[in-house]
Amino acid sequence: MIGKIEGTGAYAPVQIWDNNRLAELVDTNDEWIRERTGIVKRHVAEEGETTALIAAKAAEAALENAGVSAEEIDLIIVATTSPGNLVPNTACEVQHLIGASHATCFDLNGACTGFIFALNTAQAYLAQGIYSNALIVGAECLSNLVDWTDRSTCILFGDGAGAAVLRAVEEGYYAQMTHSMGSKGSVLTCASRNKRLPGARMDSGAQDPKTFLHMDGGEVFKFAVSRMPEAIKELLRQEQTAAEEIDYFILHQANARIVSAVAKKLGLDLDRFPMNITEYGNTSSASIPILLDELNQAGKLKRGMKLVLAGFGGGLSYGASLIVW
Ligand SMILES: CC(C)(COP(=O)(O)OP(=O)(O)OC[C@H]1O[C@@H](n2cnc3c(N)ncnc32)[C@H](O)[C@@H]1OP(=O)(O)O)[C@@H](O)C(=O)NCCC(=O)NCCS
Repeated sequence: MIGKIEGTGAYAPVQIWDNNRLAELVDTNDEWIRERTGIVKRHVAEEGETTALIAAKAAEAALENAGVSAEEIDLIIVATTSPGNLVPNTACEVQHLIGASHATCFDLNGACTGFIFALNTAQAYLAQGIYSNALIVGAECLSNLVDWTDRSTCILFGDGAGAAVLRAVEEGYYAQMTHSMGSKGSVLTCASRNKRLPGARMDSGAQDPKTFLHMDGGEVFKFAVSRMPEAIKELLRQEQTAAEEIDYFILHQANARIVSAVAKKLGLDLDRFPMNITEYGNTSSASIPILLDELNQAGKLKRGMKLVLAGFGGGLSYGASLIVW
C-alpha cells in the first residue's frame, strides 16, 4: 500500500503585515527585506487565533478538496514548532474542531522539515496497512516565538497552515530521504517557555530571551544551499530518476535567494521552483503544504507529474520526498 495525496488545503490569518509595518517596529526597510529575502508581506495571527484554529481551517479545506469526510480520517499528524498548548496536542484540538472522531492524533516537531517528517510518518502507517486515510497538517503561529525587537529574525517569519489528505491505494509510488544533524543544533534555537526552577513563582520576571527564535542567519543560509541540493541529488540517485524528469521542486520557503541558489546548484531553470515567499514569509512546517496547495488550486498539478518536496531547518534537519501526483 502507498499513500496517495487526494486533496490539499491551506489557510493563513487575515491580518497582513507588509515590510513597512515592520519598519515601524525595528530598524529595517522594505527594500532591504525584498532584496535579501524576497519577502513582501506575512500573515500574522490575531489574539485568540491559535495554531489549532488555523490548522483546522487548512484541514477542512483539504478534506473538501479530497472529497473525504472528517469521519473517514484514521490518523491526524500536525507538524508544528509553535503549538498553542503542550497538552492537549494540536492534532487532538484539530480532531475536535473538525469532528474527526475516529482519528488517532499526535503532533510532530521537525521545525521547517516538519511536513516532510509528517508525510513520511503517515506513509509508513498507510504502507503497513494500519490506517486507510490520513490527514497531515503543517501549522505555525511563529509570531508567538519571534522577538519583535530583533530585526535579524522578525522580518523572516509568518503564520499559516497547509494540509494534505492521503488515502492508501494498492499501486503507487513514494520515496524519501531525511537527515538530522544534532551537533549543529545551536545554529537555530528557541528554548522552552515551560522551564522554571522547582518552587519558583509563576510571576518571576520577564520572558527569558532564549525563549525567542534565535539563529545564525549566515550559517543557516550556508547549510541550506549546500545540504538541499545534496539531499535532492541523493534522493534522485537512489530512485534512478533524472532531475530533468521532475516537474516541480517544491522547496521550503525560507529565502528566495536560497531557492535560487539550490536551482543553480542543480543546474535547473528557476521556473521549476515555484515560490510564494513574497506573500507569506517563512511559515516553517506550513510552507511546503501551502505552496503545494497553491499549485493544486491553480490547476498546475496534473496526475502523473513527478514532484520533489524538500525542507530544511532547526535541528538541524533536512529532507526530501519524491511523489508522483
Ligand atoms: C537572515 C538573512 C536574510 C540575512 O541576510 P544577509 O544577506 O546574510 O545579511 P547579513 O546578516 O550579512 O547582514 C547584512 C547587513 O544588513 C544588516 N541587517 C540585518 N538585518 C537587517 C534588516 N532586517 N534590515 C536592514 N538591515 C539589516 C546587518 O546588520 C548587516 O549590516 P552591516 O553590513 O552594516 O554589518 C540570511 O542570512 C538568511 O536568510 N539566512 C537564512 C535564514 C533562514 O532561512 N532561517 C530559517 C531556516 S528554516
